[in-house]
Amino acid sequence: MRARHGDRVRLRLGPYRSWLLFHPDDVERVLVASAASFIRFRKLTEVIAQWNGDSLIVAEGQRWRDRRRKVQPAFRTQRVRDYAATAASHAERLCTRFERAGRPEGVTVDTDAVMARLTLDIATGTLFGAEPLANGDEVERAIQVLSDTAFHESTAPFVMPDWLPLPSKARKRRAMALMDHVVGDLVRRRIIDEPGDRGDLLSMLVEQHGGEHIPVRDDAMSLLIAGHETSGALLSWLFLALVQYPAWRARVIGEVAAFGDRPPGVDDVAALPLLRAVIAEVLRLWPPAYSLFLRQATEDVDLGDTMIRGGDLVQIVPFTLHRDPRWFDEPNSFDPDRFLRPPSWPANAYLPFGSGPRVCIGQNFALVEACVVAATILQRWEPVAVPAVPEPDPKFSLRPRGGLPMTWRRVEISRA
Ligand code: HEM
Repeated sequence: MRARHGDRVRLRLGPYRSWLLFHPDDVERVLVASAASFIRFRKLTEVIAQWNGDSLIVAEGQRWRDRRRKVQPAFRTQRVRDYAATAASHAERLCTRFERAGRPEGVTVDTDAVMARLTLDIATGTLFGAEPLANGDEVERAIQVLSDTAFHESTAPFVMPDWLPLPSKARKRRAMALMDHVVGDLVRRRIIDEPGDRGDLLSMLVEQHGGEHIPVRDDAMSLLIAGHETSGALLSWLFLALVQYPAWRARVIGEVAAFGDRPPGVDDVAALPLLRAVIAEVLRLWPPAYSLFLRQATEDVDLGDTMIRGGDLVQIVPFTLHRDPRWFDEPNSFDPDRFLRPPSWPANAYLPFGSGPRVCIGQNFALVEACVVAATILQRWEPVAVPAVPEPDPKFSLRPRGGLPMTWRRVEISRA
């Protein structure tokens, strides 16, 4: 669309006038300078609100500001330090599981499914201070159903009512009931039986919401869902890139080997510039949030020679921005070195976590988590082969289409 029609493309989406904006200056205008003139498209937030309630993700205006202020303390540096330790310990357990499989030729697993489950376990550990859920696979599937439902119901021109006896509606009802039960139960238990700060996100939410069940539940649910699918997708794309680019794999493994057998913590992230550059490049080429939430203008916004009218929809697509040859040399090439030099791109040409006041609240945690998890795994195991490189599947997040079977091998490092 951009190549054919330029930086501002106007479309008609049913009753709506809709814009695709491809220039970083327009992105800056919508997400930063005129952020107060846009809301997230109601059709999407109404779907998500069915299970997330009136959480940080769907709230607008003053309600959103209150919510954001209350959730923010959960991502302070000291907290993220503790979350990183939880993330590392789950990554170590995964390595141990690989080792128990004990095959000399290595282990072959659906790495997308494994990373989804790993980030779910990390999310339940950091959010709820809980051990991996006994029904974690079922919860993982339920989150997947809700994510697919959000994608389908917010993009389909017509959505069937929920009471119809259709298999898809039954799946959605079951997924919502399971999530409500699991999260509601953990929240209720914490408020009633285990008050006080236990160092996890939930303690902070309980404190900030004055122990009120509904807002704590809504925010916990939305953080669990928002945080885990995107983080899992990032790790899947990261390990796939390391299979495809063995020279970078060797460089990163050399870097993490400097820690010996000690799992790296949050203070070690600064000493992992190559891994951080690889993660940044993976987020450029395969941003899990490949398209931001659709926005709707609440009033006219003048973009110079173009007027976005009140009621118009605006779509911003990091996937396309990140591959724009005006800002990135050889944009489709995997070149983490570009993140080891001063940036060649303007602000808002690279925005895997969004931009402006509604930028991802979990951004720092997500980056630390990816770094610590990848470093811990790469100390012991390296991804070496895939039968085929999967296409990116643009659903609610960008995931490898059809899963990611991948062979892992023990890392052999000479410590001479
Ligand atoms: C690699 C991992 C992640 C990616 C790529 C990512 C990406 C994003 C993006 C692009 C947005 C802005 C969406 C928009 O403006 O339309 C966002 C918002 C958000 N993210 Fe993340 N995210 C990640 C991890 C996390 C984690 C770990 C958490 C929490 C534990 C989280 C919680 C949220 C929340 C609550 C919002 C909404 C913030 C608001 O509206 O004020 N995310 N994320």
